[in-house]
Amino acid sequence: MSYAADSGVCLDRILASTDLSGLTKKDATTFTRRLKAHFPRLFEKYTYVYGHQYDCYFHLQKLVEILRDGLKNRKPALKKLDSQRLDSPLWYRDEEQVGMACYVDLMGPTLNDLHEKIDYFKALGVTYVHLMPLYDAPKGDSDGGYAVSDYRKVNPTLGTVKDLEKLADALQKEGINLVLDFVFNHTSDEHAWAKAALDGNKQYQNYYYLFDDRTIPDQYEHTLREIFPQVRRGSFTFNEQMEKWVWTTFNSFQWDLNYSNPEVFNAITSEMLFLANLGCAALRLDALAFIWKELGTNCENQEKAHVLIQAFNCCLQIVAPAVVFKSEAIVHPDEVLKYIDKDECQLSYNPLLMALLWNSLATRKTRLLTSSMKKSFAISDDCTWVNYVRCHDDIGWTFDDAVAHDIGINPFDHRLFLNQFYTGRFEGSFANGVPFAENPSNGDCRVCGSLASLCGLEGALNDNDAQGVDEAVKRMLLLYGITFSIGGIPLLYSSDEIGKLNDYSYRDDDSKKHDDRWVNRIAVTNEDTQLALGETTPLNTAQTASLRVFKGLQQMIAIRKQNAIFGQAKTHILETDNQHCFAFLRENIEGEKLLAICNFSEHPQSLSRSILATLKHSASKDLLTGETVEINSSALLLAPFQQMWLLPA
Ligand code: GLC
Ligand code: GLC
Repeated sequence: MSYAADSGVCLDRILASTDLSGLTKKDATTFTRRLKAHFPRLFEKYTYVYGHQYDCYFHLQKLVEILRDGLKNRKPALKKLDSQRLDSPLWYRDEEQVGMACYVDLMGPTLNDLHEKIDYFKALGVTYVHLMPLYDAPKGDSDGGYAVSDYRKVNPTLGTVKDLEKLADALQKEGINLVLDFVFNHTSDEHAWAKAALDGNKQYQNYYYLFDDRTIPDQYEHTLREIFPQVRRGSFTFNEQMEKWVWTTFNSFQWDLNYSNPEVFNAITSEMLFLANLGCAALRLDALAFIWKELGTNCENQEKAHVLIQAFNCCLQIVAPAVVFKSEAIVHPDEVLKYIDKDECQLSYNPLLMALLWNSLATRKTRLLTSSMKKSFAISDDCTWVNYVRCHDDIGWTFDDAVAHDIGINPFDHRLFLNQFYTGRFEGSFANGVPFAENPSNGDCRVCGSLASLCGLEGALNDNDAQGVDEAVKRMLLLYGITFSIGGIPLLYSSDEIGKLNDYSYRDDDSKKHDDRWVNRIAVTNEDTQLALGETTPLNTAQTASLRVFKGLQQMIAIRKQNAIFGQAKTHILETDNQHCFAFLRENIEGEKLLAICNFSEHPQSLSRSILATLKHSASKDLLTGETVEINSSALLLAPFQQMWLLPA
């Protein structure tokens, strides 16, 4: 028999020795009430990971103090938001929500300049702005800011924490949610913790995974995936100063944090609460799949990674319940799903949809998209997808091999084809992409490029090909249209909305040229926004195309916002009798329905009207054209790249 006091006893003991006198009476009540509600779960998670360590209780007690301080530092306005969000927690499933991710320097170039871009966001209908990492980071290469040197300091080139708070406030007033990155798998080698480790401080050396020789790294590397093989082989970096090997999953200057140390969990929780208290609505959990290491595995998606994220989630529920987590798991579709839960990550990127939209554009076929979405699109009603087409990273072909096999596709060959196609090495391809992270050992690679260049605009403009330009614009609108309608928050990637081409200038910059993802990190200039907002008129074919993209997206977003069916509803993926067409039905509890049908080919396609029967009406109206579509015996015709959003009429 072994003895273990339950979480209630543990909480009573911790509270008996925790000083709450610094909290207002109201806060103290809120704090104890929330602890009563969430501590049992936190206790379960925390002791699951750290319970075998003799000092677990000590750290748990410290954690409660960190939570107390987090609540103490939360501004009254944010506490008000907490109660509002607790009353209507599913704001993120609303049809109103439309996101945009942007870099401060490429859109600002400073935080203060972004105030002037609020009108631009609003003109497009954006209600959720994800500012790419803006924290203090090493000069030169900082992995685009994903090597954080200080979570509590804004990169001085962008502004200050005060500027950020001011911006968060201004956005909030305009009904725009701020989303920030929580880069918690690693810090930069210039973070104070890393510097202390470099100086030989044992306590801080335990914040990271350090090894005296290659014995253990070699054992791990048997089963690890290499993330950036183009810059460094393997997952470890030898540090001369410490004469130790450091675990560095990404770049050599990004040191993985050691979550088997409860002190790291606590320290990072404190940083997380600081970010939550700046006034953001969501935190994007960067590289969350990698936070737990287990010998003999690929050290991705480990069970304890989930348990830790759930524990972080409990901490937020206690201190800042208005803040939700967004999962950035760019992994196998089955693994992506496991992060999605109201008690883990309420939001998740949808890398499967993203990759398969590109797949359908290349192949003009929708079988893999349809089968994959049938298997993997449904998630809990408490959560939602963040559907995107492009982002600041590369495109990886993360579909499920088993689904591909089922429909007769050889996944290995097919990925090879997709890489060839999007890097323009495939005869007849319309795409101008750049290969990324080519692995000399296995020939693996991923693809970079802007929406417009990958959709064929760059090539068509170069060739003076008017039809090519038209097709490229239609491809862009088709892909985004699906993210607006299929269910979830659509997330625009800034510069896509105005159809900007690849930016090759990174090749002249020593701190960037080894990382081809910079080709799709593109500035949105004042000239661009003026064109988009109708303050200037297009001067050439490129600008005319840009404006068509902007206007097309704007129109679809406006339609999304006017129709509740794009908000909380279920999505049923449908089979069609035309292999070039993709279709789904949305249905909400009010019984409203929407049928979306999309043609991925540059030729007109016909399909049987029987699909309209899913709407259970004899006639329907296309929200995009205003036209009435009847069920009759003739075939349903779709123009090249056309999509229809049909409501019963
Ligand atoms: C995420 C980011 C990516 C970065 C990596 C390491 O995947 O999106 O840009 O390189 O994490 O932080
Ligand atoms: C890998 C990782 C993903 C990261 C990307 C950066 O695909 O799985 O998390 O964003 O590399 O290029």
